[in-house]
Amino acid sequence: MHVTGQNSEKQRHYWDRTAEDFDSIYTKQKSKFARWLDHTFRADMFGRLDYTLLQSAPIQGRTFLDVGCGTGHYALAIAREGAQKVIGIDFAPNMIQRAEHLIAEAGMDHICEFRVQTIEDIPENEQFDIVIGIGLLDYFSRPSDLLRRIHQHARDKVILSFPRSNTWRAPVRKVRLSFRGCDVYFYNESDVRRLIEESGGQLIDFQIIGKLFCTTSQPV
Ligand SMILES: C[S@@+](CC[C@H](N)C(=O)[O-])C[C@H]1O[C@@H](n2cnc3c(N)ncnc32)[C@H](O)[C@@H]1O
Repeated sequence: MHVTGQNSEKQRHYWDRTAEDFDSIYTKQKSKFARWLDHTFRADMFGRLDYTLLQSAPIQGRTFLDVGCGTGHYALAIAREGAQKVIGIDFAPNMIQRAEHLIAEAGMDHICEFRVQTIEDIPENEQFDIVIGIGLLDYFSRPSDLLRRIHQHARDKVILSFPRSNTWRAPVRKVRLSFRGCDVYFYNESDVRRLIEESGGQLIDFQIIGKLFCTTSQPV
């Protein structure tokens, strides 16, 4: 199955070299003005974390796969809510290094495990109660295989975010990121509904959170 091949090496390098900058959105090691910008223009990044925790409930004792886990903040939040195990995978080594550091500092490394991997590296028959892919679909021009694979690994739920195409920020982000070597893709509501259905998922929750669609689906 062809999942990540379409995601160029260029994208992986982009995320690798911007890991520290990305992490600072969560860690707030920024000037007051930069923090204000994040809270004004990236409020949905925090909204999608709340959404994920809410839709994952009850978290206690459950297993999670976080695809495109970045610097591990979702894994940490989920572990703190009592998850049994969280596996975070990301193709950018610097993201994984930061995630490992975050989790070790929080004393949660017995629950969270991070790997420099893509979804193709997860054995096909391995299942998790919940699979999440937050801020991931943005980087797939043809996400069908990824979504099929994500649903295959979920026993109970899949929680995803999709950047909306009809927002003022979409073209600005497209141009800004493509200049920096990272292609980004956007979705409308019917794309999202169709992609989830075609990938073996049944949509059970659909929300607009700022410039995102956030969805919860179940494997059928
Ligand atoms: C916007 S960040 C989101 C990180 C995290 N989910 C969060 O919301 O804090 C996107 C992440 O997806 C990772 N990524 C993109 N395409 C990927 C792929 N094909 N396989 C694994 N990771 C990928 C990037 O390296 C990056 O860390």
